[in-house]
Amino acid sequence: MRFGMIAAVALLAPGASWAQDGTGDAAAGEEHFNRQCISCHVVQNEAGEVLAGRNAKVGPNLYGVVGRVAGSYPDFAYSDLMMTYGATGAVWEEANFTAYIQDPTGYLREATGESGRSKMAYQVRDEQEAHDLYAYMATFSSDAAAAPAEGEAPAEAEAPSQ
Ligand code: HEC
Repeated sequence: MRFGMIAAVALLAPGASWAQDGTGDAAAGEEHFNRQCISCHVVQNEAGEVLAGRNAKVGPNLYGVVGRVAGSYPDFAYSDLMMTYGATGAVWEEANFTAYIQDPTGYLREATGESGRSKMAYQVRDEQEAHDLYAYMATFSSDAAAAPAEGEAPAEAEAPSQ
């Protein structure tokens, strides 16, 4: 947690416009990611190193997702609804990322005015968790000043701290 606060402050560097809300805690986001996202998503860099998650391919690789055009990871078979959203030029930043992961289909329908469904059959239930997840994902963006430490591995599956 302490480290997360420091990371969150670092992300508030001037010019980092995508982090302007800045209410997320990246360390907490790592825990949420390991519990909620790794069954479907991996974070794997261009060199093929897995930086978070295992190797799940149900969803697109989230490496560099912050700042990326929606629905643009190569060779991933996105839903038509996501492709329509991406075609508007939408780029993942804090506002749309946090709204999307709390209601993937609902958010994309509202943003595009189309019907259809997102292929992501999962909803984050807590708004603060969505912001924490955003802060964590931003550490894997090439835009992010706070890149994860070399060789940093996701924590072993651990029990919730209590
Ligand atoms: C049950 C599997 C599943 C889970 C769990 C899941 N996702 Fe997804 N996710 C998907 C799929 C499938 C897509 C592609 C959606 C589409 O094409 O409509 C997706 C798309 C996304 C996108 C858009 C990426 C892009 O390239 O445009 C983001 C961001 C995302 N997920 C974040 C998350 C986060 C954060 C979590 C954990 C809270 C999570 N997902 C949990 C399956 C999942």
